[in-house]
Amino acid sequence: MSTDRAYAVPGYELDRLIGKGGFGLVFEARETAPPLRSVAVKILDPSAFADREKSYARFRREAAALSRLEHPNIVRYIGSGVTTDEPPFPFLATDLVVGEQFRSSLDITDAERIRFMIQVLGGLDHAHRMGLFHRDIKPSNLLLRTHDRQAIIVDFGLVIDIEDLDPNKLTTRYAGSTGYVPPEVLAGTEPSRANHDIFSCGVTLYEALVGTRPNIQSYAPLSSQKARLSALDPVIRKSLDAVATRYQSAASFAADLAGVLAHVEAIQGLADTNPRAEAFRLKAVERMAREKAAREARARAQAETQAHWATFNDVVVAGAERAFNDMVSVVNELHGPATFARPPEVTAAQGRPTKLFELRHKHGTLCFGLVAPTTSAESSVPWPDSQRGALFGHTPRRQLPTVGPNIERLAPEWVVYTDLGAYPPIAIQGAISAIKVHLMDFRLFAKPLTEWHGTMGHTPREPRLLATVEDVRSYITDTIGSHFRLDHE
Ligand SMILES: Nc1ncnc2c1ncn2[C@@H]1O[C@H](COP(=O)(O)OP(=O)(O)O)[C@@H](O)[C@H]1O
Ligand SMILES: [Mg+2]
Repeated sequence: MSTDRAYAVPGYELDRLIGKGGFGLVFEARETAPPLRSVAVKILDPSAFADREKSYARFRREAAALSRLEHPNIVRYIGSGVTTDEPPFPFLATDLVVGEQFRSSLDITDAERIRFMIQVLGGLDHAHRMGLFHRDIKPSNLLLRTHDRQAIIVDFGLVIDIEDLDPNKLTTRYAGSTGYVPPEVLAGTEPSRANHDIFSCGVTLYEALVGTRPNIQSYAPLSSQKARLSALDPVIRKSLDAVATRYQSAASFAADLAGVLAHVEAIQGLADTNPRAEAFRLKAVERMAREKAAREARARAQAETQAHWATFNDVVVAGAERAFNDMVSVVNELHGPATFARPPEVTAAQGRPTKLFELRHKHGTLCFGLVAPTTSAESSVPWPDSQRGALFGHTPRRQLPTVGPNIERLAPEWVVYTDLGAYPPIAIQGAISAIKVHLMDFRLFAKPLTEWHGTMGHTPREPRLLATVEDVRSYITDTIGSHFRLDHE
Protein backbone atom coordinates (compact mmCIF):
# COMPACT_ATOMS: atom_id res chain seq x y z
CA MET A 1 0.00 0.00 0.00
CA SER A 2 1.48 3.25 -1.08
CA THR A 3 1.74 6.19 1.24
CA ASP A 4 2.47 8.78 -1.41
CA ARG A 5 -0.53 8.17 -3.58
CA ALA A 6 -3.69 10.15 -2.97
CA TYR A 7 -6.75 8.28 -1.74
CA ALA A 8 -10.16 9.54 -2.61
CA VAL A 9 -12.13 9.36 0.61
CA PRO A 10 -15.66 10.65 0.20
CA GLY A 11 -16.49 13.32 2.76
CA TYR A 12 -12.87 13.81 3.87
CA GLU A 13 -9.86 15.60 2.63
CA LEU A 14 -6.67 13.82 3.60
CA ASP A 15 -3.90 15.98 4.89
CA ARG A 16 -0.89 14.02 6.03
CA LEU A 17 0.08 10.54 7.10
CA ILE A 18 0.23 10.26 10.89
CA GLY A 19 0.31 6.55 11.53
CA LYS A 20 1.08 3.25 9.96
CA GLY A 21 0.16 -0.09 11.44
CA GLY A 22 0.28 -3.60 10.06
CA PHE A 23 -3.03 -3.23 8.24
CA GLY A 24 -3.34 0.27 7.06
CA LEU A 25 -2.46 3.90 6.90
CA VAL A 26 -3.80 6.60 9.18
CA PHE A 27 -4.13 10.14 7.87
CA GLU A 28 -4.95 13.37 9.52
CA ALA A 29 -7.97 14.62 7.57
CA ARG A 30 -10.73 17.15 7.59
CA GLU A 31 -14.42 16.75 6.99
CA THR A 32 -15.45 18.41 3.73
CA ALA A 33 -18.89 19.26 5.09
CA PRO A 34 -19.77 20.92 8.40
CA PRO A 35 -18.88 20.59 11.18
CA LEU A 36 -15.52 20.33 9.34
CA ARG A 37 -13.92 18.42 12.18
CA SER A 38 -10.33 17.31 12.12
CA VAL A 39 -10.41 13.55 12.02
CA ALA A 40 -8.18 10.53 11.63
CA VAL A 41 -8.91 8.44 8.56
CA LYS A 42 -7.62 4.92 8.61
CA ILE A 43 -7.46 3.25 5.22
CA LEU A 44 -7.37 -0.50 5.37
CA ASP A 45 -4.94 -2.32 3.16
CA PRO A 46 -6.71 -5.36 1.69
CA SER A 47 -3.44 -6.71 0.37
CA ALA A 48 -2.33 -7.24 3.97
CA PHE A 49 -4.90 -10.01 4.21
CA ALA A 50 -4.91 -13.47 2.71
CA ASP A 51 -8.18 -12.72 0.97
CA ARG A 52 -10.12 -9.64 0.28
CA GLU A 53 -13.25 -10.92 1.96
CA LYS A 54 -11.42 -11.36 5.24
CA SER A 55 -10.10 -7.84 5.09
CA TYR A 56 -13.60 -6.46 4.62
CA ALA A 57 -14.91 -8.62 7.41
CA ARG A 58 -12.22 -7.31 9.73
CA PHE A 59 -12.89 -3.78 8.69
CA ARG A 60 -16.63 -4.15 9.27
CA ARG A 61 -16.02 -5.63 12.71
CA GLU A 62 -13.78 -2.75 13.66
CA ALA A 63 -16.24 -0.12 12.44
CA ALA A 64 -19.21 -1.85 14.01
CA ALA A 65 -17.51 -2.25 17.37
CA LEU A 66 -16.26 1.30 17.46
CA SER A 67 -19.64 2.70 16.51
CA ARG A 68 -21.15 0.95 19.51
CA LEU A 69 -18.56 2.09 21.97
CA GLU A 70 -18.89 5.37 23.73
CA HIS A 71 -16.27 5.98 26.38
CA PRO A 72 -13.86 8.83 27.14
CA ASN A 73 -10.93 6.44 26.82
CA ILE A 74 -11.94 4.85 23.54
CA VAL A 75 -11.41 6.68 20.26
CA ARG A 76 -14.71 8.04 18.99
CA TYR A 77 -16.22 6.64 15.81
CA ILE A 78 -17.16 9.21 13.17
CA GLY A 79 -17.83 7.30 10.03
CA SER A 80 -16.73 4.58 7.65
CA GLY A 81 -17.06 3.52 4.03
CA VAL A 82 -14.96 2.78 1.01
CA THR A 83 -12.80 5.05 -1.04
CA THR A 84 -13.72 5.88 -4.62
CA ASP A 85 -10.41 4.50 -5.78
CA GLU A 86 -10.20 1.55 -8.07
CA PRO A 87 -10.02 -0.90 -6.42
CA PRO A 88 -11.75 0.72 -3.47
CA PHE A 89 -10.25 0.65 0.02
CA PRO A 90 -12.32 0.47 3.16
CA PHE A 91 -11.81 3.45 5.44
CA LEU A 92 -12.71 4.37 8.98
CA ALA A 93 -12.90 7.90 10.37
CA THR A 94 -12.42 8.56 14.07
CA ASP A 95 -11.69 11.54 16.25
CA LEU A 96 -8.21 12.84 15.66
CA VAL A 97 -6.13 12.15 18.74
CA VAL A 98 -3.31 14.61 19.06
CA GLY A 99 -0.88 12.84 21.29
CA GLU A 100 1.73 10.13 21.54
CA GLN A 101 1.85 6.37 21.65
CA PHE A 102 2.18 4.90 25.13
CA ARG A 103 5.83 4.00 24.74
CA SER A 104 8.20 3.43 27.65
CA SER A 105 10.22 6.34 26.28
CA LEU A 106 7.36 8.75 27.02
CA ASP A 107 8.45 11.65 29.15
CA ILE A 108 5.99 11.09 32.01
CA THR A 109 6.18 9.96 35.62
CA ASP A 110 5.53 6.41 36.76
CA ALA A 111 2.43 7.62 38.56
CA GLU A 112 1.16 8.99 35.26
CA ARG A 113 1.84 5.65 33.56
CA ILE A 114 -0.20 3.87 36.21
CA ARG A 115 -3.00 6.41 35.96
CA PHE A 116 -2.92 5.99 32.18
CA MET A 117 -3.38 2.23 32.50
CA ILE A 118 -6.25 2.70 34.95
CA GLN A 119 -8.00 4.75 32.26
CA VAL A 120 -7.28 2.12 29.60
CA LEU A 121 -8.76 -0.54 31.87
CA GLY A 122 -11.80 1.69 32.35
CA GLY A 123 -12.31 1.82 28.60
CA LEU A 124 -11.76 -1.92 28.26
CA ASP A 125 -14.17 -2.68 31.09
CA HIS A 126 -16.77 -0.70 29.20
CA ALA A 127 -16.06 -2.71 26.03
CA HIS A 128 -16.01 -6.01 27.89
CA ARG A 129 -19.43 -5.35 29.39
CA MET A 130 -20.70 -5.01 25.85
CA GLY A 131 -19.14 -8.30 24.87
CA LEU A 132 -16.32 -6.67 22.92
CA PHE A 133 -12.73 -7.76 23.45
CA HIS A 134 -9.93 -5.74 21.92
CA ARG A 135 -7.23 -8.44 21.76
CA ASP A 136 -4.53 -6.09 20.55
CA ILE A 137 -3.66 -3.91 23.52
CA LYS A 138 -0.03 -2.81 23.18
CA PRO A 139 1.88 0.50 23.26
CA SER A 140 1.16 1.48 19.63
CA ASN A 141 -2.59 1.09 20.08
CA LEU A 142 -2.80 3.29 23.17
CA LEU A 143 -2.44 7.03 22.78
CA LEU A 144 -1.79 9.65 25.43
CA ARG A 145 -3.80 12.66 24.30
CA THR A 146 -1.72 15.77 24.84
CA HIS A 147 -4.26 18.39 25.78
CA ASP A 148 -6.06 16.55 28.57
CA ARG A 149 -3.60 13.70 29.36
CA GLN A 150 -6.33 11.16 28.61
CA ALA A 151 -5.58 7.61 27.56
CA ILE A 152 -7.26 6.75 24.26
CA ILE A 153 -7.57 3.18 23.01
CA VAL A 154 -7.38 2.88 19.21
CA ASP A 155 -7.21 0.05 16.66
CA PHE A 156 -10.11 -2.28 17.22
CA GLY A 157 -8.99 -4.26 14.17
CA LEU A 158 -8.78 -7.50 16.11
CA VAL A 159 -11.89 -6.97 18.17
CA ILE A 160 -14.17 -9.87 18.76
CA ASP A 161 -17.83 -9.41 19.42
CA ILE A 162 -19.24 -12.16 21.58
CA GLU A 163 -22.66 -11.65 19.94
CA ASP A 164 -21.65 -12.57 16.44
CA LEU A 165 -18.99 -15.02 17.42
CA ASP A 166 -18.61 -17.73 14.85
CA PRO A 167 -16.47 -20.44 16.44
CA ASN A 168 -15.49 -21.80 13.03
CA LYS A 169 -14.05 -18.51 11.91
CA LEU A 170 -12.38 -17.37 15.04
CA THR A 171 -9.96 -20.13 15.76
CA THR A 172 -6.96 -17.92 15.08
CA ARG A 173 -4.72 -18.88 17.94
CA TYR A 174 -2.27 -16.08 17.47
CA ALA A 175 -4.66 -13.18 17.22
CA GLY A 176 -2.76 -10.33 18.81
CA SER A 177 0.81 -9.17 18.85
CA THR A 178 3.71 -11.31 19.96
CA GLY A 179 4.53 -10.72 23.57
CA TYR A 180 1.12 -9.34 24.50
CA VAL A 181 -0.96 -12.49 23.97
CA PRO A 182 -1.56 -14.59 27.09
CA PRO A 183 -0.09 -18.12 27.11
CA GLU A 184 -3.48 -19.82 27.36
CA VAL A 185 -4.56 -18.13 24.13
CA LEU A 186 -1.28 -19.04 22.44
CA ALA A 187 -1.77 -22.63 23.60
CA GLY A 188 -5.37 -22.58 22.40
CA THR A 189 -6.65 -23.80 25.75
CA GLU A 190 -8.75 -20.73 26.46
CA PRO A 191 -10.61 -18.28 24.22
CA SER A 192 -9.74 -14.59 24.21
CA ARG A 193 -12.00 -12.76 26.57
CA ALA A 194 -11.25 -10.27 29.34
CA ASN A 195 -8.35 -12.55 30.25
CA HIS A 196 -6.61 -11.54 27.01
CA ASP A 197 -6.91 -7.78 27.41
CA ILE A 198 -6.04 -7.91 31.13
CA PHE A 199 -2.87 -9.84 30.38
CA SER A 200 -1.91 -7.43 27.55
CA CYS A 201 -2.47 -4.47 29.89
CA GLY A 202 -0.21 -6.06 32.50
CA VAL A 203 2.54 -6.57 29.93
CA THR A 204 2.12 -3.05 28.54
CA LEU A 205 2.22 -1.37 31.93
CA TYR A 206 5.29 -3.36 33.00
CA GLU A 207 7.00 -2.43 29.74
CA ALA A 208 6.05 1.22 30.13
CA LEU A 209 7.60 1.30 33.59
CA VAL A 210 10.90 -0.49 33.03
CA GLY A 211 11.32 -0.58 29.26
CA THR A 212 11.15 -4.34 28.74
CA ARG A 213 8.29 -6.80 28.70
CA PRO A 214 8.03 -9.11 31.70
CA ASN A 215 9.34 -12.65 31.60
CA ILE A 216 6.22 -14.67 32.30
CA GLN A 217 8.11 -17.84 33.31
CA SER A 218 10.32 -16.03 35.78
CA TYR A 219 8.93 -12.67 36.76
CA ALA A 220 11.57 -10.06 37.53
CA PRO A 221 10.05 -7.66 40.07
CA LEU A 222 9.75 -4.03 39.05
CA SER A 223 11.07 -3.22 42.50
CA SER A 224 14.45 -4.69 41.57
CA GLN A 225 14.78 -1.78 39.15
CA LYS A 226 12.66 0.84 40.87
CA ALA A 227 12.31 0.29 44.59
CA ARG A 228 9.39 2.67 44.90
CA LEU A 229 7.30 0.40 42.66
CA SER A 230 7.41 -2.54 45.08
CA ALA A 231 3.71 -2.18 45.89
CA LEU A 232 2.94 -2.57 42.20
CA ASP A 233 4.56 -5.98 41.75
CA PRO A 234 1.77 -8.09 43.27
CA VAL A 235 -0.79 -6.24 41.10
CA ILE A 236 1.11 -6.69 37.83
CA ARG A 237 1.85 -10.30 38.73
CA LYS A 238 -1.84 -10.94 39.25
CA SER A 239 -2.60 -9.53 35.79
CA LEU A 240 -0.09 -11.96 34.26
CA ASP A 241 -1.04 -14.96 36.37
CA ALA A 242 -2.62 -18.20 35.18
CA VAL A 243 -6.22 -17.52 34.11
CA ALA A 244 -7.73 -18.99 37.26
CA THR A 245 -5.87 -16.57 39.52
CA ARG A 246 -5.60 -13.63 37.11
CA TYR A 247 -7.84 -10.60 37.60
CA GLN A 248 -11.28 -11.61 36.43
CA SER A 249 -12.24 -8.14 35.26
CA ALA A 250 -10.53 -5.04 33.97
CA ALA A 251 -12.32 -3.14 36.74
CA SER A 252 -10.75 -5.18 39.54
CA PHE A 253 -7.29 -4.76 37.97
CA ALA A 254 -7.91 -1.00 37.74
CA ALA A 255 -9.10 -0.87 41.35
CA ASP A 256 -5.90 -2.50 42.61
CA LEU A 257 -3.81 -0.15 40.47
CA ALA A 258 -5.65 2.80 41.96
CA GLY A 259 -4.80 1.41 45.40
CA VAL A 260 -1.06 1.41 44.74
CA LEU A 261 -1.15 4.66 42.79
CA ALA A 262 -1.53 6.65 46.00
CA HIS A 263 1.45 4.80 47.43
CA VAL A 264 3.63 5.41 44.37
CA GLU A 265 2.60 9.06 44.29
CA ALA A 266 3.38 9.47 47.97
CA ILE A 267 6.85 8.05 47.42
CA GLN A 268 7.29 10.02 44.29
CA GLY A 269 6.16 12.99 46.33
CA LEU A 270 4.67 14.53 43.28
CA ALA A 271 1.32 13.61 41.85
CA ASP A 272 1.00 15.29 38.58
CA THR A 273 4.16 16.57 37.03
CA ASN A 274 6.40 15.36 34.31
CA PRO A 275 9.91 14.00 34.95
CA ARG A 276 11.51 17.31 34.08
CA ALA A 277 9.52 18.97 36.83
CA GLU A 278 10.43 16.10 39.11
CA ALA A 279 14.12 16.40 38.24
CA PHE A 280 13.85 20.10 38.91
CA ARG A 281 12.16 19.41 42.22
CA LEU A 282 14.81 16.82 43.15
CA LYS A 283 17.52 19.35 42.37
CA ALA A 284 15.72 21.89 44.53
CA VAL A 285 15.42 19.36 47.34
CA GLU A 286 19.11 18.52 47.06
CA ARG A 287 20.01 22.17 47.02
CA MET A 288 17.85 22.80 50.08
CA ALA A 289 19.52 19.88 51.86
CA ARG A 290 22.95 21.24 50.95
CA GLU A 291 22.00 24.69 52.14
CA LYS A 292 20.59 23.29 55.35
CA ALA A 293 23.80 21.32 55.98
CA ALA A 294 25.83 24.46 55.27
CA ARG A 295 23.64 26.52 57.62
CA GLU A 296 24.06 23.91 60.34
CA ALA A 297 27.83 23.80 59.79
CA ARG A 298 27.95 27.59 60.01
CA ALA A 299 25.87 27.54 63.20
CA ARG A 300 28.18 24.89 64.68
CA ALA A 301 31.26 26.88 63.70
CA GLN A 302 29.71 30.00 65.15
CA ALA A 303 28.88 28.26 68.44
CA GLU A 304 32.41 26.88 68.54
CA THR A 305 33.82 30.31 67.86
CA GLN A 306 31.64 31.88 70.53
CA ALA A 307 32.94 29.30 72.99
CA HIS A 308 36.51 30.17 71.99
CA TRP A 309 35.81 33.82 72.44
CA ALA A 310 34.24 33.32 75.82
CA THR A 311 37.43 31.60 76.92
CA PHE A 312 39.52 34.26 75.26
CA ASN A 313 37.70 37.01 77.09
CA ASP A 314 38.11 35.24 80.40
CA VAL A 315 41.77 34.70 79.83
CA VAL A 316 42.45 38.14 78.42
CA VAL A 317 40.49 39.99 81.05
CA ALA A 318 42.12 37.98 83.79
CA GLY A 319 45.56 38.23 82.22
CA ALA A 320 45.43 41.75 80.84
CA GLU A 321 46.78 43.36 83.92
CA ARG A 322 49.63 40.92 84.15
CA ALA A 323 50.43 41.29 80.45
CA PHE A 324 50.46 45.01 80.81
CA ASN A 325 52.77 44.91 83.79
CA ASP A 326 55.05 42.48 81.95
CA MET A 327 55.29 44.88 79.07
CA VAL A 328 56.04 47.78 81.34
CA SER A 329 58.85 45.92 83.04
CA VAL A 330 60.32 44.57 79.80
CA VAL A 331 60.28 47.92 78.08
CA ASN A 332 61.71 49.67 81.09
CA GLU A 333 64.41 47.08 81.35
CA LEU A 334 65.37 47.21 77.69
CA HIS A 335 64.63 50.72 76.56
CA GLY A 336 64.37 52.96 79.53
CA PRO A 337 61.31 54.76 80.78
CA ALA A 338 58.20 54.71 78.68
CA THR A 339 54.67 55.79 79.30
CA PHE A 340 51.92 53.32 78.70
CA ALA A 341 48.28 53.81 78.19
CA ARG A 342 46.10 51.50 80.22
CA PRO A 343 44.96 48.61 78.16
CA PRO A 344 41.64 49.50 76.62
CA GLU A 345 38.72 47.26 77.34
CA VAL A 346 38.37 44.21 75.28
CA THR A 347 36.94 45.49 72.03
CA ALA A 348 36.03 43.90 68.83
CA ALA A 349 38.02 44.07 65.65
CA GLN A 350 36.14 42.85 62.62
CA GLY A 351 33.65 41.27 64.91
CA ARG A 352 36.19 39.41 66.99
CA PRO A 353 37.19 40.09 70.57
CA THR A 354 40.41 42.01 70.48
CA LYS A 355 42.68 43.26 73.21
CA LEU A 356 44.54 46.38 72.29
CA PHE A 357 47.63 47.68 73.99
CA GLU A 358 49.07 51.06 73.39
CA LEU A 359 52.67 51.91 74.13
CA ARG A 360 54.13 55.40 74.04
CA HIS A 361 57.87 55.49 74.09
CA LYS A 362 60.56 57.86 73.01
CA HIS A 363 60.77 55.87 69.79
CA GLY A 364 57.15 56.41 69.01
CA THR A 365 53.76 54.98 69.74
CA LEU A 366 52.96 51.37 69.16
CA CYS A 367 49.74 49.53 69.30
CA PHE A 368 49.39 45.84 69.82
CA GLY A 369 46.32 43.94 68.95
CA LEU A 370 45.65 40.62 70.48
CA VAL A 371 42.83 39.20 68.47
CA ALA A 372 40.79 36.17 69.34
CA PRO A 373 41.46 33.25 67.08
CA THR A 374 38.58 31.95 65.13
CA THR A 375 37.62 28.68 63.54
CA SER A 376 38.80 28.28 60.01
CA ALA A 377 35.16 28.08 58.87
CA GLU A 378 34.61 31.60 60.18
CA SER A 379 37.90 33.07 59.27
CA SER A 380 38.41 35.52 56.47
CA VAL A 381 42.10 34.73 56.45
CA PRO A 382 43.52 31.27 56.23
CA TRP A 383 44.56 30.27 59.70
CA PRO A 384 47.12 27.53 59.96
CA ASP A 385 44.71 25.65 62.16
CA SER A 386 41.44 26.78 63.64
CA GLN A 387 42.40 25.57 67.10
CA ARG A 388 45.79 27.17 67.13
CA GLY A 389 47.22 30.58 66.90
CA ALA A 390 46.59 33.95 68.34
CA LEU A 391 46.91 36.95 66.14
CA PHE A 392 49.36 39.42 67.40
CA GLY A 393 49.85 42.66 65.67
CA HIS A 394 51.14 46.14 66.10
CA THR A 395 50.23 48.88 63.85
CA PRO A 396 50.34 52.68 63.73
CA ARG A 397 47.78 54.26 65.96
CA ARG A 398 45.81 55.72 63.10
CA GLN A 399 45.07 52.19 61.92
CA LEU A 400 43.90 50.98 65.26
CA PRO A 401 40.26 50.57 64.33
CA THR A 402 41.19 48.18 61.57
CA VAL A 403 43.25 45.84 63.69
CA GLY A 404 41.98 42.45 62.85
CA PRO A 405 42.44 39.54 60.56
CA ASN A 406 43.13 41.79 57.59
CA ILE A 407 45.78 43.68 59.46
CA GLU A 408 48.53 42.48 57.16
CA ARG A 409 46.76 43.72 54.10
CA LEU A 410 46.01 47.07 55.68
CA ALA A 411 49.47 47.91 56.95
CA PRO A 412 51.98 45.51 55.52
CA GLU A 413 55.05 47.42 56.60
CA TRP A 414 53.99 47.74 60.19
CA VAL A 415 52.57 44.44 61.13
CA VAL A 416 53.87 41.33 62.67
CA TYR A 417 51.68 38.51 63.56
CA THR A 418 52.72 35.31 65.02
CA ASP A 419 51.30 31.86 65.05
CA LEU A 420 52.13 30.97 68.58
CA GLY A 421 50.62 27.59 68.99
CA ALA A 422 47.71 26.19 70.90
CA TYR A 423 44.99 28.59 71.81
CA PRO A 424 44.50 29.59 75.32
CA PRO A 425 46.05 29.76 77.63
CA ILE A 426 49.32 28.99 75.87
CA ALA A 427 48.60 31.27 72.95
CA ILE A 428 47.85 34.14 75.24
CA GLN A 429 51.00 33.49 77.15
CA GLY A 430 52.81 33.21 73.85
CA ALA A 431 51.32 36.42 72.58
CA ILE A 432 52.40 38.23 75.69
CA SER A 433 55.87 36.83 75.19
CA ALA A 434 55.81 37.89 71.58
CA ILE A 435 54.93 41.39 72.68
CA LYS A 436 58.07 41.26 74.73
CA VAL A 437 60.03 40.11 71.68
CA HIS A 438 58.81 43.00 69.66
CA LEU A 439 59.34 45.44 72.42
CA MET A 440 62.92 44.30 72.62
CA ASP A 441 63.23 45.06 68.96
CA PHE A 442 61.37 48.25 69.33
CA ARG A 443 64.01 50.20 67.51
CA LEU A 444 63.66 47.93 64.54
CA PHE A 445 60.17 49.17 64.07
CA ALA A 446 61.48 52.33 62.58
CA LYS A 447 62.42 50.21 59.59
CA PRO A 448 59.94 48.78 57.19
CA LEU A 449 58.85 45.49 58.59
CA THR A 450 58.23 43.65 55.38
CA GLU A 451 61.12 41.39 56.22
CA TRP A 452 59.34 40.33 59.35
CA HIS A 453 56.80 38.69 57.18
CA GLY A 454 59.58 36.45 56.04
CA THR A 455 59.72 35.17 59.55
CA MET A 456 56.34 33.64 59.24
CA GLY A 457 57.79 30.60 57.61
CA HIS A 458 60.07 30.12 60.58
CA THR A 459 57.35 30.35 63.14
CA PRO A 460 57.45 27.21 65.23
CA ARG A 461 54.44 25.06 64.62
CA GLU A 462 54.62 23.58 68.09
CA PRO A 463 53.43 25.62 71.05
CA ARG A 464 56.35 27.40 72.52
CA LEU A 465 56.15 29.13 75.80
CA LEU A 466 58.29 32.23 76.03
CA ALA A 467 58.12 33.01 79.71
CA THR A 468 61.44 34.66 80.34
CA VAL A 469 63.60 37.16 78.55
CA GLU A 470 65.99 34.28 77.82
CA ASP A 471 63.17 32.40 76.10
CA VAL A 472 62.52 35.49 74.10
CA ARG A 473 66.14 35.84 73.08
CA SER A 474 66.36 32.25 71.90
CA TYR A 475 63.07 32.63 70.11
CA ILE A 476 64.48 35.56 68.21
CA THR A 477 67.67 33.70 67.42
CA ASP A 478 65.80 30.60 66.30
CA THR A 479 63.20 32.27 64.23
CA ILE A 480 64.03 35.74 63.16
CA GLY A 481 67.62 36.06 64.24
CA SER A 482 68.90 35.39 60.78
CA HIS A 483 66.93 38.36 59.49
CA PHE A 484 67.79 40.91 62.14
CA ARG A 485 70.68 42.04 64.14
CA LEU A 486 69.55 42.68 67.66
CA ASP A 487 70.58 46.24 68.27
CA HIS A 488 70.21 46.14 72.03
CA GLU A 489 72.88 43.51 72.42
N1 LIG B 1 -7.70 8.47 15.83
C1 LIG B 1 -6.39 8.56 15.75
N2 LIG B 1 -5.79 9.74 15.99
C2 LIG B 1 -4.45 9.85 15.90
N3 LIG B 1 -3.61 8.84 15.62
C3 LIG B 1 -4.16 7.63 15.36
C4 LIG B 1 -5.54 7.43 15.44
N4 LIG B 1 -5.77 6.14 15.15
C5 LIG B 1 -4.59 5.57 14.92
N5 LIG B 1 -3.59 6.46 15.04
C6 LIG B 1 -2.16 6.22 14.86
O1 LIG B 1 -1.95 5.39 13.75
C7 LIG B 1 -1.33 4.16 14.13
C8 LIG B 1 -1.92 3.03 13.35
O2 LIG B 1 -3.31 2.98 13.60
P1 LIG B 1 -3.98 1.59 13.99
O3 LIG B 1 -5.45 1.82 14.11
O4 LIG B 1 -3.30 1.03 15.16
O5 LIG B 1 -3.67 0.75 12.69
P2 LIG B 1 -3.23 -0.78 12.53
O6 LIG B 1 -4.46 -1.57 12.66
O7 LIG B 1 -2.65 -0.81 11.20
O8 LIG B 1 -2.23 -1.05 13.63
C9 LIG B 1 -1.60 4.05 15.60
O9 LIG B 1 -0.57 3.30 16.24
C10 LIG B 1 -1.60 5.49 16.07
O10 LIG B 1 -0.29 5.94 16.30
MG1 LIG C 1 -2.30 -0.70 15.61
